[in-house]
Amino acid sequence: GPAASANTTEVSHAVTADERNAANGHKGGVLWLTGLSGAGKSTLAMALERALFDRGWQVFVLDGDNVRNGLNAGLGFSAEDRAENIRRVAETAKLFADAGVLVIASLISPLQADRARARAIGGERFHEVYVAADLATCESRDPKGLYRRARAGEIPEFTGVSAPYEAPESAELTIDTGAVTPVEALGELLDYVDGAFGRN
Ligand code: PPS
Repeated sequence: GPAASANTTEVSHAVTADERNAANGHKGGVLWLTGLSGAGKSTLAMALERALFDRGWQVFVLDGDNVRNGLNAGLGFSAEDRAENIRRVAETAKLFADAGVLVIASLISPLQADRARARAIGGERFHEVYVAADLATCESRDPKGLYRRARAGEIPEFTGVSAPYEAPESAELTIDTGAVTPVEALGELLDYVDGAFGRN
């Protein structure tokens, strides 16, 4: 039958985006971090959240590992489940952004098509950051022992080992965590966020 949305009508908010931006001192939006497991996405996301909060920003991290325990419980790592995981986080991020929050989404999001869909959902406020550490670097870090287990055949469809990662070609910002220090990486992110979402 027809989609339920065929029988709905958009309701207008009584508070505008401009009013929220003025109250918060910055724009709402989505900073989408993509990269291999172990590239440093979560570490950078949480450091950026801390730094922006300390500057008075409305900011919140949506991390793949975390949302998979709740909103996306039941989704696995097949291509189909990853696509749905990414779609739901993109829609959630859009709602946060509409509420005036700067959302830092931290997901492997390995496929170009899924990231393009997330971008389409987020619109012009969506900015993609490639946390670019190469596979050898991530595998040598192996903070959770996942690469070792994946190589041993214990984790099927593990990104970079037995499932693909398509590097972004249109990211607004690339940070090679194998080449810069965490402090430098955070500085680059703060500069970028200020330019993209700050009062200016
Ligand atoms: S995705 O591809 O965007 O849907 O993945 P994401 O939601 O970011 O979840 C990645 C984290 O899940 C753990 N994990 C796996 N990653 C990749 N492949 C497989 N098969 C897998 N199984 C479990 C892993 O801890 C990832 O966390 P990070 O922080 O990226 O290391």
